This record gives sequence, C-alpha cells and structure tokens, in this order.
Amino acid sequence: MYRITMNEKRVTGKRNPMIYGHFIEHFHRQIYGGIYDPGNPQSDEDGFRTDIIEAMRKIKVPVLRWPGGCFVSSYHWKDAVGNERKPFFDKAWRVEDPNTFGTDEYIKLCRKIGCEPYICTNAGTGTAEEMSDWVEYCNLEEEGQYAKWRIKNGYEKPHKVRYWSIGNENYGSWEIGAKCADEWSRLVKESAKMMKHVDPETELSAAALADVDWNMTLLKNCGPYLDWISIHQYWDMMPEVNNPASYEACMAWTKRISRAVDDVRGMLTALHLEDRIRIAFDEWNLRGWHHPNVHSIRQGIGKETYVTPRDKNDDNSTYTMADAVFTACFLNAMNRNCDLVGMANFAPILNTRGCIYSNHEGIVLRSTYHVFDLYVNYFGDTVIDLWSEDQMPVMTVQDKWGAPQTVDVLDLAAAKWSDRAGLALAAVNKHPDAPQEIVLDLACEHTKVVQYSISGANKDSYNDVDRNEVFIREETLGRLEPGMQVTLSPHSVNILQILPE
Ligand code: AHR
Repeated sequence: MYRITMNEKRVTGKRNPMIYGHFIEHFHRQIYGGIYDPGNPQSDEDGFRTDIIEAMRKIKVPVLRWPGGCFVSSYHWKDAVGNERKPFFDKAWRVEDPNTFGTDEYIKLCRKIGCEPYICTNAGTGTAEEMSDWVEYCNLEEEGQYAKWRIKNGYEKPHKVRYWSIGNENYGSWEIGAKCADEWSRLVKESAKMMKHVDPETELSAAALADVDWNMTLLKNCGPYLDWISIHQYWDMMPEVNNPASYEACMAWTKRISRAVDDVRGMLTALHLEDRIRIAFDEWNLRGWHHPNVHSIRQGIGKETYVTPRDKNDDNSTYTMADAVFTACFLNAMNRNCDLVGMANFAPILNTRGCIYSNHEGIVLRSTYHVFDLYVNYFGDTVIDLWSEDQMPVMTVQDKWGAPQTVDVLDLAAAKWSDRAGLALAAVNKHPDAPQEIVLDLACEHTKVVQYSISGANKDSYNDVDRNEVFIREETLGRLEPGMQVTLSPHSVNILQILPE
C-alpha cells in the first residue's frame, strides 16, 4: 500500500503549457504527404489535412517547432517564400525538397492549429545574417527588403514569431556544419546579436546538450544573449537497425528520465543563470527515428538502402503502452521541473515516431496521443507537492542490453488549477503485469474522485487503422473518504481528479 499526501499550499510553480509542445520536420511523411497534402479529399483550400489539424487542436498543441532537425542545417529559407520556389537537394536526408511548404505556409498552419510558431535556424551552412534576415521577414512591419518581400507575398502584417532557435545539434558529427564549442559560441553570439537587433522581443535558444564543456563555453560566452537553452534526447535509438526495445527495456529508461534536465540545471545554477535562462527540451521521444545510411559518413547507394527503410517508422505496432507509460513519466518529470523547463517538443507530432499517424485515407491516434490528451485536458496547471512515507515499490527489469535495472514502479505528479477548485494526481503504474494500490491520504474539502486512465489490453497494446486498443477510460470512483484506496492497472497512465461535489 502506498499512501500519497498532497499539499496544495506547497506550490512548485505554474507549468508553461509549452511543455506539451511538438516538433515537425521536413523528413519522410511529416510535411509533404503528411500535414501538407494538397489534393487529398481531407485537405482544405491551403492543402492542409483538416483531420490532422483537428487532432492537433484537440490536444491543444501550444507550440510547433519547425523545419528541423538535421534538415535545417543546410536549408535556406529564402528559396521557400514568394512565387519563385526553388527546389533544393536536402543534403541531410538526401531527397529533393520542392520548397512549396515554406515560412508562410508554416505560419498559416500554426494559425489553423492555434499554436505558437518556433523556428529553428540554419547554423550549419547558414550565417548570422541569413538568420536575422529571416527575423526581418517575419517580424518587421515594413522596414527593409525582407519585410517588404513578405508584404509583396501577400502578408501585410508581420508573422510575429517570438521563439527562435539558433541551430540544431551542431555539436554532433552527423550534423551538416558541425562545430566545436568555441566556434559554436562565437556563431551563436553573433547570430543572437543580429537577431535581437532586428527584434529585441524575440526569445532565443541555442543548440546545447547535457555536456559541461559545450554548455559552459556556450553559456559563459552567450548567456546574456539567450533566453532558452535547447536540449534533445531519444532513448531507444534505432537509426541504423529498426529494433524497438521491449516494454520492460523501455521501463529501464525511466530510471533517471530527468537526468539531462538535472545536469543542465546544475550548469545554469553554477553560472547564476537559472533565473534568466529556461530549458527547452525541444526534441524528445522514447523512440529514435529510423533512417539508415545517412547519419554517418557511409551513405547509402540506391534509395532502397536509405529512403525506403524510413517506412519502417510507420509500423504502428511499435508504439505500445511502453511509449504511453514512458511519455507520461517524461511529462511528469517536466511538470516536476516546471520552475526551469518551459518548453518540451515531442519529436515529431506526425508520422515517423509521432503521436499521430496519417495515410491517404485518414489518421491513427497512437498510444502517446492519448497521454497528451490526458495531461493537456485533465491535469492541473499548477504543480504542487506530494509525498509518501511508505517505501516506493520497485521492480527489476532487463534493459535493452540484457542488464538488470531496478526502477520505481510508480511515477507521480500532483497539480491544482489556477482557475478552478480541485486537485489532480498523475499516477503511472509501470509494472508490466501487477496492479498497484495507492491510498489517497488527503485532508481537503474536495470530495468527488474521478479516474481517467489509459492501460490497453496488455503492455504491447497499440492502435492501428483497423485496431483501437488504447484510449482514455473514465470512471467516477465516488466520494473521497480518508484513506481511500485506488487501484492502478498494470502498464497504465492515470489522472485522478479530486473535485468539489
Ligand atoms: O532522427 C531525427 C533527428 O534526430 C533530427 O533531425 C535531429 O534533430 C536529431 O538528431
């Protein structure tokens, strides 16, 4: 029995809704043949899939990062605006991009979704000037050639893009235009300077990682110019071989899910920047993307070796309750760290490893989609303290390499609402086959308990075009009594709402 106490007077902070953000890249069927599908019966007059947009609106996508990812590090935005679109060979993913989906189409998409745009710039082959020209195009009223170009293209009013990232993973040898720490901090500083000179209201992030040398060099040189620091993580990495980890192995990865946040928190604190710079965990997913023979110097010969294998990301049976449980543990961690983490972007939102799958006929809401639905629509916005005096139940599972790992069975976060009465407890039971009993040891005036849960039929349950095994169940548990016991099904994600009658 695990007794849980919550104290709504002990507040960690109000979480930024952007911790439930998303990412979309010019990769495989995310943009072309994905959200941008002119001619599809479900597409609107602008060529956007209305069924996909509707699904995105239901989970209140707060921010959408674009256009990459590795794609961006040789992308030139000027080729993709106006009437003269120049197709270009995307050297990251080795396909032709028609450039028919560019900045203006992206902004139009964000308006339809109702989300903030968040543009990642080309710091691979790009320059500080090209990045700041992009800010001119998007944010100046009419000064200068780029704002005038936007007006000529039919957009009288500025797009007002507030969030910008300088670069993507430029620390990595796989990235086009990779740099060492000193080169990186020089480019970031000059780029940030020019971007802020164009629009001081922009909020700038820079590619970083939980590495002391890289981050300390970046932060010491660019700290005053940055508002965010960007980190990425995928746990079940499968770039070359598409071999998804088992449920149990995925649970092993929940052991220190906030490790990167903890490390960056330490660095920001050491440099006294923790009150000025927030963390944007702007690419994350349990499952790394599968794209063999491109991310290394050994490139594939023949599209069947490096393009066709990308279709394996579309196998919906990959995305099981392991993905749902892991995603809930990650979102709990971002809530618990909401004093420092202000944004997180699920990578990606659509197709590849996304929470939504689409084909020509329609969409599939994968298991992770329902987790976002739970947290965005049923969890509170103000994180509060919770604790237990009981021993946390643990389990030992084998990780992907066969080593035993002991992990907590429960993962918990508590919140209240800033605009209404009530409490919410996010309770994840990671155990593959054992239910867990928790006791709500609460002294509060709220009396009605409602449980929203996702569990699937078994730990490997998934959704597909002809299969709907994972969805939110609602159950009213009745009046809150002292010592009320609640059962958490195996492999389940639960939001318990404790509400006034
Ligand atoms: O696997 C996809 C890639 O992962 C993204 O393009 C990049 O940002 C990250 O390395």
